[in-house]
Amino acid sequence: MIADFILAWMHHLCFLGMAAALAMQWTLLGPSRPAIPLALLGKTDAWYGSLAMLILAIGAARVAWGPKGAAFYLDNPVFWAKIAVFLAVGAISALPTINYLRWRQQARHNADFQPAADDVNKVRKAIRLQFLGWLALPILAAAMARGV
Ligand code: HEM
Repeated sequence: MIADFILAWMHHLCFLGMAAALAMQWTLLGPSRPAIPLALLGKTDAWYGSLAMLILAIGAARVAWGPKGAAFYLDNPVFWAKIAVFLAVGAISALPTINYLRWRQQARHNADFQPAADDVNKVRKAIRLQFLGWLALPILAAAMARGV
């Protein structure tokens, strides 16, 4: 019971941290900034990726050892819909990550380097798509938890 309680708490902390990291990336790429802080952007993305791995591990632990039993989740299509959305958001997040790595590499050769506006817009679009996924995830989670 105590393990499930701690895992549930950590699950919530992870997705709050992920949402904060994503919102931070959105702000750092905003047009109101004179220059994009590439190192900070890379750090927020590393946090986002690490927390995604952690929430996946914690979620799997909750499925395997949670009080409802694994079959409660594995037999529920809403659980699989949640996993599908989670994986889709993860796949979309590859685009910002690849761009941040490329930008930081270019900045190593040219200290004044700033990404092209077109590239920044593409990354912001990918972040917006991830936000949409983020709207769906808690709905699916609440439905799944109630056996809908
Ligand atoms: C960023 C991604 C995720 C978000 C935003 C999220 C969100 C949530 C939320 C809000 C709850 C509480 C639901 C409630 O009690 O009403 C929850 C529970 C849960 N989540 Fe996630 N989750 C995510 C990823 C995952 C993943 C990847 C897995 C599985 C591998 C998972 C497995 C679970 C399980 C087993 C529960 C317990 C449900 C219950 O109490 O019966 N979650 N999640």
